[in-house]
Amino acid sequence: MSVDALNAVCPYYTMYPLDFPLRVLKEHGRRGEWVIDPFCGRGTTNFAARLLEMPSVGVDSSPVAAALAQAKLASAAPGRVVASARAILSSAKEPRDVPTGEFWRLAYHERTLIQLCQLREAMLTDCSSPTRILLRAIILGALHGPRPKGTSSHFSNQSPRTFAPKPAYAVKYWTKHRMAPTDVDVVAIIRARAERYLSEPPPSVRGMVQLADSRQVDTFKDVPEAHFVVTSPPYYGMRTYLPDQWLRLWFIGGPDFVEYRQPHGQLTHTGAKHFSNEMNRVWTNVAGRTTKGARLIIRYGGIHDREAEPMGVLKASLLHSGWRMVTAKAVPDSDRGRRQVRQFQAEPKKAITEYDVYCHRA
Ligand SMILES: C[S@@+](CC[C@H](N)C(=O)[O-])C[C@H]1O[C@@H](n2cnc3c(N)ncnc32)[C@H](O)[C@@H]1O
Repeated sequence: MSVDALNAVCPYYTMYPLDFPLRVLKEHGRRGEWVIDPFCGRGTTNFAARLLEMPSVGVDSSPVAAALAQAKLASAAPGRVVASARAILSSAKEPRDVPTGEFWRLAYHERTLIQLCQLREAMLTDCSSPTRILLRAIILGALHGPRPKGTSSHFSNQSPRTFAPKPAYAVKYWTKHRMAPTDVDVVAIIRARAERYLSEPPPSVRGMVQLADSRQVDTFKDVPEAHFVVTSPPYYGMRTYLPDQWLRLWFIGGPDFVEYRQPHGQLTHTGAKHFSNEMNRVWTNVAGRTTKGARLIIRYGGIHDREAEPMGVLKASLLHSGWRMVTAKAVPDSDRGRRQVRQFQAEPKKAITEYDVYCHRA
């Protein structure tokens, strides 16, 4: 158990390690100074800021990201979270909507699926309290993952943890390996996780997380003036965020199938120049919400490509944005293996570099 346990409540595709925002904020920031992350993902920056007693704002246009980041700013005792799950399940309300078909039959035991649907529907009706926000994040983290030999720690049949299995592939795999879903104890899994992630709470600090599009200037209209922007935008060309999280999306109100169309509110990867322009809008928006002398620190990278060299894409996005680039440092070797790009290609075929880019308000 440790004060930073909550950060691991649920993996998020393309998350960066906690050490990165923690190191830069520790080095340059002070307690009480506001921090913004306009591409906050699972809320790693918000959580680092919280550990340092710095209030923060997170924005992400993915509902899964926003749900997880909200949990990074919430506080509730483990017992309250478990009691809240119990209360929902013992209300004996039949869920209105239970997905059917081969995938769902093999992914979850019949009883587990009913309970998940009860929890889902209760939280779709109301997820405003910190207790429910934390319960939702705990469930998202337990929704799919490996099946250990001993006690189950996930609700699903054997699956990857970081991304959701694609239905046709998963059905084939489970059938071939004769894997039936286990009748898991949903409350026991929630209790074990609540104790792991919530027993040693970090300090409570102010902050907010918005499910919104950072390209829109209005997104930042109620954001207090910040001293820091610490963030990692999508890497150009890597655009699978939402379909790869389709099961977690389903739990928070999405459809019970994979949707491949361009998700609403995401930067568009249709051309490097266009992509730079879209990032430029975000840098300009956050510059408008920061103090004189504020810093913008960006982790950015990607696959080297003559058409879209990552640093070229980023530098172009910073032009006339209100920010002046000061230094760019290659991400240290110690972060290798946990890097964002490794989550796309286990053994990258092309050279990949990631940089930490430091900018000052111009
Ligand atoms: C590289 S990830 C950030 C990961 C984060 N640093 C973490 O540790 O979880 C980039 C994020 O940008 C979000 N995003 C893409 N376009 C966006 C937009 N227009 N406005 C807000 N968020 C956006 C994606 O949903 C994704 O969560």
